Amino acid sequence: MSGDDAPAQQQNAEETKQDNKPSEEPKAESKPESPPVSSTDAAATPAATEKVPEEEQFTYRSLVLSGYGGYDKVKLQVKKGKPALKAGEVMVRVKACGLNFADLLARQGLYDRLPSPPVTPGMECSGEIEAVGEEVTDRKVGDKVLVLNRCGLWQEVAVVPATHTFLIPEGMTFEEAAALPVNYITAYMMLFDFGNLRPNQSILIHSAAGGVGIAATQLCQTVKDVTVFGTASASKHETISQGGVTHCIDYRTRDYVEEVRKISPKGLDIVLDPLGGSDTHKAYNLLKPMGKLITYGAANMLAGQKKNLLAVAKTWYHQFSIHTLSLIQNNKSVCGFHLGYLDGEVEVIQQAMTTILDLYRQGKIKPRIDSTYHLEQVGDAMRRMQERNNIGKVILITEPMPEEEKKEEPKKEEKKEDKKKEDKKKDDKKKDDSKKEDKKEEKKKEEPKKEEKNEEKNEEKKEEKKEEPKKEEK
Ligand SMILES: NC(=O)c1ccc[n+]([C@@H]2O[C@H](COP(=O)([O-])OP(=O)(O)OC[C@H]3O[C@@H](n4cnc5c(N)ncnc54)[C@H](OP(=O)(O)O)[C@@H]3O)[C@@H](O)[C@H]2O)c1
Repeated sequence: MSGDDAPAQQQNAEETKQDNKPSEEPKAESKPESPPVSSTDAAATPAATEKVPEEEQFTYRSLVLSGYGGYDKVKLQVKKGKPALKAGEVMVRVKACGLNFADLLARQGLYDRLPSPPVTPGMECSGEIEAVGEEVTDRKVGDKVLVLNRCGLWQEVAVVPATHTFLIPEGMTFEEAAALPVNYITAYMMLFDFGNLRPNQSILIHSAAGGVGIAATQLCQTVKDVTVFGTASASKHETISQGGVTHCIDYRTRDYVEEVRKISPKGLDIVLDPLGGSDTHKAYNLLKPMGKLITYGAANMLAGQKKNLLAVAKTWYHQFSIHTLSLIQNNKSVCGFHLGYLDGEVEVIQQAMTTILDLYRQGKIKPRIDSTYHLEQVGDAMRRMQERNNIGKVILITEPMPEEEKKEEPKKEEKKEDKKKEDKKKDDKKKDDSKKEDKKEEKKKEEPKKEEKNEEKNEEKKEEKKEEPKKEEK
């Protein structure tokens, strides 16, 4: 997959915008835009469109990142004109798309693999092949496929190289297919290509209830007796423990390093680190000799809807670096993984994907869908992930949102706000309780010390009393 392929969808079709508010951080090299046309223009009267060639009448809805910032920066637009196919390409009628953490970072301008706005995000999707270009021999119209691409998949129609598509196995839904590529390839390559995971080993998986986290946990189950330590918000522990996490840790109220050490004093064989900053140091220190740290993200940079410079700076400031001599002396290994930079490695990706699809057929893995949103609700979908509410994958579907649902939206928003307030109250109470408990424990620890001190003082007094008569005699 070459970087040049990435924005093909945008180049082929004429873009039409519904909102022309200035973007927060406009980039100089933004692609030229066609004049704004509303969705109603796109559905022009038959009389007006009669003379227009079919290629030009062709319209499709597309999500476009219009500039960096909050949820509202991703807008649903209508694009005009049938995308032209180059040799080796296929056109996919998209049914479902995966939302990834990188899309949240990209919206804030923190993901360098997404071309600058205006651009259609989306690294994975599933759908049906609607047209094939010249030289495509192994795909045909009607094939159900899942797709991995650098970007451009959050739209009803996507044009991609045929080598970026994989046939969907029997029985797999479009939602599952869209949930598979990024999370499972990432987890698979980290665990088996870098990690060399073997029976009886131990591993720490952060965000164990997230997309990659669940994929990694399921893949760990394919190896005998692997002990999985998983961090996640407390409300997700029951689900991830049923999914195979041996020890669940609520990193929001507990020190996860201490919790791991309590159970595994010697440390761990593998730590997967999607957090970056100071957590990468912790990960390295948690390794046993011969242990492997695989770092693959910087989630700590994300704090709030818009770019938080303090969080970004803090993560950069605490960036982990190590001297090779230290690695040798400590018998540890540090690996870095970024799927976005493997886009030229078609064979490597195809090999991993083939194994993953086999594991699916054997019933050993199955993507967990957290929630499904229409393209119109992309902001809600992003919010769900960013506010740490997802357990598994958040999916966008291209099927238009029914009118009745659209009317229900404002009411839902109100309910959501109320629930958010309630959850926050509960969370704050939990944090307070846990702080109180910590204080109690500290007090308990302090008690014996106090008593020791008292005893010491008593001893001193006794000594002084014994000395008194001697002084008198003198
Ligand atoms: N290098 C690569 O090729 C690659 C590929 C895929 C993903 N990744 C990385 O892997 C990580 C997981 O990605 P994903 O797509 O599977 O997402 P995800 O884990 O589903 O992301 C959402 C979850 O992450 C947790 N989280 C931790 N820090 C967070 C923060 N600062 N803001 C919001 N949520 C936070 C939250 O769960 P809890 O708080 O409950 O844990 C949240 O529910 C991300 O860091 C991503 O960048 C890297």
